[in-house]
Amino acid sequence: RRRIGVLTSGGDAPGMNGAVRAVVRMAIHCDCEAYAIFEGYEGLVNGGNMIRQLHWEDVRGWLSRGGTLIGSARSMAFRERVGRMKAAKNMVLKGIDALVVCGGDGSLTGADVFRAEWPSLLADLIDAGELSPEQVEPYKVLNIVGLVGSIDNDMSGTDATIGCYSSLTRICDAVDDVFDTAFSHQRGFVIEVMGRHCGWLALMAAISTGADWMFLPEMPPQEGWEDEMCSVITKNRTERGKRRTIVIVAEGAQDRQLNKVPSSKIKDILTDRLGLDTRVTILGHTQRGGAACAYDRWLSTLQGVEAVRAVLEMSPSSPSPVITIRENKIMRTPLMEAVQATKDVTAKIEEKEFDEAMTMRDPEFKE
Ligand code: F6P
Repeated sequence: RRRIGVLTSGGDAPGMNGAVRAVVRMAIHCDCEAYAIFEGYEGLVNGGNMIRQLHWEDVRGWLSRGGTLIGSARSMAFRERVGRMKAAKNMVLKGIDALVVCGGDGSLTGADVFRAEWPSLLADLIDAGELSPEQVEPYKVLNIVGLVGSIDNDMSGTDATIGCYSSLTRICDAVDDVFDTAFSHQRGFVIEVMGRHCGWLALMAAISTGADWMFLPEMPPQEGWEDEMCSVITKNRTERGKRRTIVIVAEGAQDRQLNKVPSSKIKDILTDRLGLDTRVTILGHTQRGGAACAYDRWLSTLQGVEAVRAVLEMSPSSPSPVITIRENKIMRTPLMEAVQATKDVTAKIEEKEFDEAMTMRDPEFKE
């Protein structure tokens, strides 16, 4: 019976529990055993009871639970080869030769490094006398399958990451709440949302809530943006009679934008130039917690099922896949292609090649 390990890594995202549940139940359905690795790669390095078998009923009710119930960590130990050697030894001792990793691009890169090093890690363990050749023999090949779990929706090659629509829903609910108080006092609000280098959450939130203005890492403000923003807001308030003003700012826009615009600067402009009583609201980690929305429950379930299928269908030479969704179809994409494309886009944004970055994300961007 094959033993498939599953772990969640990096920032938690709503839907990760749905993914673990689906992997566990699909593994059992396919006559395999499922093992949860607790606290991300940290659990793999430490072994012992941080790697535990999960049964069908252990994951009951997980679809509606927020965060990740098997824990997540940004493991420093796994970044070192000694840590990965310990992880390889623990996997062999537990009889696990396939891993489904649910996380962002950093976590998935770590998984692929582990897979590429696997034969040499085993050889070193034999040389060091930690494992015998007989113990290692059945575990010559390590299968890795990625699931993209992140609220940021920043992975190339997939239309949605597990968690992004739940986070967007929470942001919209929060902005609606702010609307009420902004309306009452005729105030302005600058609302900062997460997303790391990616403006997807901010863009979608601005469209979904009818915000007055937004700042995205991919769209630097041009010369004279202050005048333009003020004139749009003035028009909205005077000609259109809006009682409240909402500006959405992506956290990445503040670090990386050409003209770096911190929320406090936007607030000062609204206050000083328009005389608007303005507040800054940072939504913070409320965007990451809470139950998964229906879309993320559905996505994580279908992708978890597909991840187990991919494990069972992989040949020793096939590259690790990541499970994606494109035009509403669940697909497999070479993991390192998706990770590299994501890194290339981020690099372009850092180099301020914004149009190129957008065209890389969507070849039809200019049209
Ligand atoms: O990647 C998810 C994310 O929530 C980003 O949007 C944000 O930049 C980052 O993680 C925050 O990380 P931490 O929880 O470590 O502060």
